[in-house]
Amino acid sequence: MEALIQQAAKEIARARNVVALTGAGISVESGIPPFRGKGGLWEKIDPMEVAHIDAFLEDPARVWLLLIQDMGHLLASAQPNDAHHGLVALEKQGRLTSIITQNVDGLHQAAGSSRVVEFHGSFATVSCLKCHTKQPIKNCLTGELPPLCDCGGVLRPDCVFFGEMIPMNAFHAAQAAVATCDVMLVVGTSATVQPAAQMPVMAKQNGAVIIEVNLDSTPLSHSISDYMIKGPAGNSMRQLATAANEMRSDGS
Ligand code: OAD
Repeated sequence: MEALIQQAAKEIARARNVVALTGAGISVESGIPPFRGKGGLWEKIDPMEVAHIDAFLEDPARVWLLLIQDMGHLLASAQPNDAHHGLVALEKQGRLTSIITQNVDGLHQAAGSSRVVEFHGSFATVSCLKCHTKQPIKNCLTGELPPLCDCGGVLRPDCVFFGEMIPMNAFHAAQAAVATCDVMLVVGTSATVQPAAQMPVMAKQNGAVIIEVNLDSTPLSHSISDYMIKGPAGNSMRQLATAANEMRSDGS
């Protein structure tokens, strides 16, 4: 493992432009459960019943009750972990230029990362379905459901529900990052939800080296990833950032 980390760190140290794609697994050590696999949220609730835009529009109070309120409370108290901090360290070293995250928890920004593309939106705010005014989600975590705007419209979290498009600005920013990176770090994602899962494939096609960090193998591990660093993201990212910091830009 030590040799694999050193080798992957060498790729990062040599790179001109490192981009990270992150998923729920990076926030597990912050106490936020993933969606898939053991202990995953979708084991307990059916995403098509509670996380699809049609389900929300049909019965917003139910979706607020079964999904949004609990998630809102959980995210409000979560803190970044070593994996988030490792990415901040790589940015400070001048190596990491941006993070494309599928997470809505805001933990990359809380850790101090400055260029974060929120591919699936954010849970920090809600918007009115009628007048589109935004406000912090913390205003909506207690009280009557569904929460309503002053204009009487129903409030929704600013995340992407199943059945919705990726926000255009996020999609374009992610595509630009993917097109220009020479190393992509893929951290804590099952790489099963499109179009995010396509990003490492596109980066690879553009000649980037793919370094995957995950507890388990994914569909990328044996085909797309050049390096598969198996284990908890916190430990792996801390080691990668430390090793890259000790190297010069020619990787020596
Ligand atoms: P998943 O829940 O599908 O996958 C989490 C991944 O993290 C798995 O591959 C785990 O093996 C890995 N993992 C778990 N704990 C880890 C740890 N401590 N260290 C490293 N890896 C760990 O999450 P995503 O791939 O992010 O979409 O899911 C993608 C999208 O599906 C989410 O953004 C969400 C969901 O439905 C929407 O809500 C639109």
